[in-house]
Amino acid sequence: MTQNVILVGPMGAGKSTIGRQLSAKLGFEFLDTDTIIESRSGADIPWIFDVEGEHGFRDRETAVLKDILSIKNSVVATGGGIVMREENRALLQRIGKVFYLCAGVEQLIKRTQKDKKRPLLQVADPQQKIKELLELRDPIYRQIADTVIVTDGSSAKSVVQEISDSID
Ligand code: S3P
Repeated sequence: MTQNVILVGPMGAGKSTIGRQLSAKLGFEFLDTDTIIESRSGADIPWIFDVEGEHGFRDRETAVLKDILSIKNSVVATGGGIVMREENRALLQRIGKVFYLCAGVEQLIKRTQKDKKRPLLQVADPQQKIKELLELRDPIYRQIADTVIVTDGSSAKSVVQEISDSID
């Protein structure tokens, strides 16, 4: 029996929404690495990026993963860039079964278009940025995922069902 479920994927893939619903369905605890980082630091992500840079934020992600190594029966939603460090990838695989929530670029653009809280998207051309990040990261998500879940055209409810069926 899987003890933890990890959700990885790009910004706008629905990791938090699906994670919350999945945890309720499984009776698991819900953890979100971005939320943990914000509550520990008492600052929001844009502030952390401003003051500590992306590198500082990634350090905080690694620290959170190390701290949650011993959790059980949890669903963990992660930030879209957490897979960029090799150390993080190894930690994620130790923590639980990794699901890649895979969505097409159009969907991701639609879901993030009014975003003001994601520092990496506060650029002149956020749509181009989404594309570039997906190109760079998609192979890495696939590399660490135990299962790839295509979310385009599916409701959150059916994605939750698909994941829960695959871990029973
Ligand atoms: C990031 C994704 C964000 C957050 C931070 C950096 C990224 O999380 O961790 O803004 O590098 O893709 P979400 O994927 O939950 O938006």
